[in-house]
Amino acid sequence: MKISPFKIEEWMNRYEAGALYDLTTTCIKPLSVYELMDLCSHSSNSYNTEKEFEKILKTPLGYGDITGSERLKDNIKSLYTNQATANITITHGAIGANQLIFYSLLEKGDEVVCIVPTYQQHYSIPESIGAEVKLYFLKEENNWLPDIEELSKIVTSKTKLLCLNNPNNPTGSVIPNWLIEELVEFAKKNNVWVLSDEVYRGLNLIGNPYSISIADIYEKGISVGSMSKTYSLPGLRLGWVCAREDLINEINHQRQYNTISVGVLDDFFASVALENKNIIQERNFNIMQLGMNTFSEWLTNEPLAECIIPNGGTTALVKYKKDMPSRELCRRLQNRTGVALLPGETMEMEGYVRIGYCAVALKSALNMFSEFLHQ
Ligand SMILES: Cc1ncc(COP(=O)(O)O)c(C=O)c1O
Repeated sequence: MKISPFKIEEWMNRYEAGALYDLTTTCIKPLSVYELMDLCSHSSNSYNTEKEFEKILKTPLGYGDITGSERLKDNIKSLYTNQATANITITHGAIGANQLIFYSLLEKGDEVVCIVPTYQQHYSIPESIGAEVKLYFLKEENNWLPDIEELSKIVTSKTKLLCLNNPNNPTGSVIPNWLIEELVEFAKKNNVWVLSDEVYRGLNLIGNPYSISIADIYEKGISVGSMSKTYSLPGLRLGWVCAREDLINEINHQRQYNTISVGVLDDFFASVALENKNIIQERNFNIMQLGMNTFSEWLTNEPLAECIIPNGGTTALVKYKKDMPSRELCRRLQNRTGVALLPGETMEMEGYVRIGYCAVALKSALNMFSEFLHQ
């Protein structure tokens, strides 16, 4: 089966490791096992870190529970209001979750509407399956939020699946709860499944950090979650799908062919993190706020850059006022300064760059970007 190159991942593989200042990142300073355990030992629920450590050291490294341990699924259930164990399966990251969903739901000829910019999996995998994919581009003038009237010109009675990403990577827009509810009404009316990639859920900068999940309010809503962003553990490679039981059964059927289990260690550390999510979130919220302050200040003083300030997630989509394709701009910037940004073209957004505002040494890197823009 042929599939288009995954433009973001190809770019990151090539440029991220060599960066002196990595602003391509979507993660919030990933935790080491030591840092995780240290945070847990300061958690308000007086977690017994030593006992937990002893437990994992003595656990045989077999395949473990095939679709994820009960303990982990219970912890994931606590992120939703309305779910049972049978509604959850554990996957190899959100990337594994998305792929399994497409393989389980779609066939050649199915119509898929995808809200972009987003993670390229959402349109390239359906295309590779032979689905008819229609892209709906978010607009800056709508604060990067979907407009139901515009969507209704694209979603038809033939549409099987609508894909979105909330909070959004790269724009950092968060769909307000009232609009999620309206989207659900719209999806019901058209009888479409909605895949909501919610890997940044829990990272709203304003109000409740958690938006409502599509899976909690819509029978055909599919939520994808992950330990990578909100809980700063991308190295666990652990994600999940939360959806209707019959779809989970179908996903587990597909999953037999590509996952077996995610691994006992990943399952264990994910549980530890979720049992102490409040203290991890407090740490991450502080990093996000500091990053956002630095970013906003830079933006105010930088006439060659424009951006709708994110209200969640970990990235911002910045329009630059320089007559240069985004790939060339990022290549030249990195060669000259060591600052790595992600070119908008890799997300079908030419004329923009993505900036991870939780990055280390953000201020120095942004200043170097400014110098480059003014040269
Ligand atoms: C929107 C979105 N979905 C999925 C993923 C993949 O996440 P994971 O590390 O859980 O596989 C990413 C990673 O950047 C992402 O931004």
